Parts: sequence; structure tokens; C-alpha cells
Amino acid sequence: MSDKAIPRSVPLPAGIRLTLAPMAGVTDSPMRTVCGACGAGYAVTEMISAKALVYEQRSHAGAPAKTATLAYIDPDEKIPVAVQIFGSEPVFMADAAELISNSSYRGFSGAAPAAVDINMGCPVKKVVSNGEGSALMKDPEKIYSIVSAVCGRSSLPVTVKMRSGWDGEHVNAPECAVAAEAAGAAAVCVHARTREQFYRPGADISVIGETKAAVKIPVIGNGDIDSPEAAEYMLRQTGCDGIAIARAAIGDPWIFSSVRAMTEGRPLPPSPAPREILDTALLQLRLSVKLKGERRGVAEVKFSLSHYLKGLPGSAAARRDIMSATSEDAAADVLRGFFGKFAGGDTAVRRITTYGLSETEK
Ligand SMILES: Cc1cc2nc3c(=O)[nH]c(=O)nc-3n(C[C@H](O)[C@H](O)[C@H](O)COP(=O)(O)O)c2cc1C
Repeated sequence: MSDKAIPRSVPLPAGIRLTLAPMAGVTDSPMRTVCGACGAGYAVTEMISAKALVYEQRSHAGAPAKTATLAYIDPDEKIPVAVQIFGSEPVFMADAAELISNSSYRGFSGAAPAAVDINMGCPVKKVVSNGEGSALMKDPEKIYSIVSAVCGRSSLPVTVKMRSGWDGEHVNAPECAVAAEAAGAAAVCVHARTREQFYRPGADISVIGETKAAVKIPVIGNGDIDSPEAAEYMLRQTGCDGIAIARAAIGDPWIFSSVRAMTEGRPLPPSPAPREILDTALLQLRLSVKLKGERRGVAEVKFSLSHYLKGLPGSAAARRDIMSATSEDAAADVLRGFFGKFAGGDTAVRRITTYGLSETEK
């Protein structure tokens, strides 16, 4: 295997400056579709095991690879989408990257991806105990070998998503970004928390500015952006080239239109009215069922649907009802019943949101 990067046939899309960050179990095609419609410029699939993709490709079962659903990009998604892979062995990472960049993995049936993204940020125990995800940040040389192996086999741009470091004693995102850049990465996204911090409050965005100063490739800042003001602060304080938003987009894809308006110097759009929130939630539900079938489609979209209600008066009971819905009709009825209560469905409502998701990825 050569570690000499092959020429990229596709440039990195400019939309990366306003990215829907990857979230396992959340940033599937329906979620990306609604976020793209609301102004996100780019999105990343949830993380996919490179080894699983490669093994499923080699197996003779004949069925489409399960991982193919995770990597599925609908032709109706209006924004470029990167497929994120995780792993620790350069050979599997390179094999998976080649399958993705050629769209040649078993079960491929969607639109071509825009980039291959490498996960170096996942904090979950069973991932880091295999030396994967954020554990890679302990070893910048390994980062170099993985990124160069992937670049050697991907005709798409290769990007890296990392944290600020492993723990407070080892905040080394700049060093890791330098290794990734030297190996051929086209951009890095830095979540300003260490692995040790998981999702606890206390992100320190100064590491994003330090990473920006260390490399020439674009640096995307990530962590706790939940408003246009927070986006502006991140951009101004760190000098980063773009931002990525994860948790704040769940149930609130309009965050992208607000941030976009702010960065383009336009007045902020009004908050969405109940009718628009309802229509968007119903669209995400419908797309999820269409993609995954009713049982799995409803089960996997419930978490996002419940967030459309979050922060609205009297939503606690409806959120519980959403979580126990088992059919598309039942979920849609809960949504219609809840939003139907708002007099003047076209008048914007104020929502108070908090993340409350910090434990979900453990
Ligand atoms: C439920 C959940 C799942 C996540 N899954 C992934 C993932 O698959 N790949 C990844 O690189 N980051 C993942 N992340 C991290 C996010 O991309 C992001 O870095 C982090 O949530 C901080 O951004 P935020 O403050 O905007 O949420 C996940 C985060 C959450 C909350």
C-alpha cells in the first residue's frame, strides 16, 4: 500500500464553514435533510466502523451491508455530506476509505459522499479501549500513518475530527492537527474538550485558536455553539474558518438559518412558528420511516422528535408520549395534538433549550 496521497478529484466543499457535526444515532439522512433545508452547508454521517464496513464487504452473505444504511446519503439531501469512519488500523481505514470514496461498498444506493472524515474524538469506553476514537490523540505518529494511508486510497478530500486532547495534561490538538495536515488532511474540526471531559461544561476554545495558528488547512471550531452569538464568539475568538454544531441542532435545525444570517450580516430570522416546527418534525418522521421502515424508522427518530417539543410550555407529557410511540401515525398524532394547542400556529414561539445529552454517548 502506498502512503503517497492520490490526487483528489473533488475539492473540499465551501459549505463546511457551517457544518452539522456528526452524532451517532442522530445525523442520519432525514436529520441532515432538514438541517440542510434550514441552512446547514455541510453535514457528516454518524461514525461507521471501518472494520465492519470492510468485513461486510468481504462476507458472502449477499445482503446489503448493515453499515451501508449508516453511510446512505439520499440524492434529495441538498448539501454535501462526509462519511465518517473510525478505527485504529491504517489498513482497514484505508480499505474503508477506498470503498466509500468509490461508492463501491456493498449496498451502496445513494448519492456520492463529499469527503471521508476520520473520527479521533469519540470518548466512549468501548471505542477508546480499542485504541480508536479519541485514543488516537495519544499518538500523533499513529495519526500520521492513518491519515496518510486513508489519503493514499481516497479520491475524496480527507478530514479529521478531534478533541482538544486526551486529558488536561495532554492538550495536543495543534500537534495532532499538524500530523494530520502533513499526512494530507484537507481540514480538521476541533471539539474544544478533552476526552476526559466527555461533554461536561468547561470547553476551552483557546485550543481551537492554537490549532488554527499551527496549520494552514481550514480549522472548524466545535463545542457548545447554541446560538448565533455563540457562533460569532467562536469565530472571533479563535479565528477558525468555520463552525460545526451538534446538539443544538437536534429539534432545532433553524439554528443554522440564524447562524447563517448572522455570518452574512443579515437580520436574524424570526423563531419558527408552531406550524413550521410541526411540519419539519413530520417531515423528519416521514423520511425516517421511508428510509428504515416503520418500526426502525419510528424508533430511531423519536429522540429527535422529542426535541422539537423541548422548551415549549406543557411539553413534558407529549415528549413522554412521543418516546412510547411505536407507529408513524401514533408519533404524528402526538405531534399534531401538541402543536395544535397553540393558538395562532403561525406566530413564533420562544423555546428555552438546554442540552441534557451529555450522558448519551458514554
Ligand atoms: C449523541 C451524540 C453522538 C455523537 N456522535 C459522534 C460521532 O459519531 N462522531 C463524532 O465525531 N462526534 C460525535 N459526537 C460529538 C459531536 O460531533 C460534537 O463534537 C459534540 O457534541 C460537541 O458539539 P456540540 O456542543 O455542538 O454538541 C456526538 C455527540 C453526541 C451528543
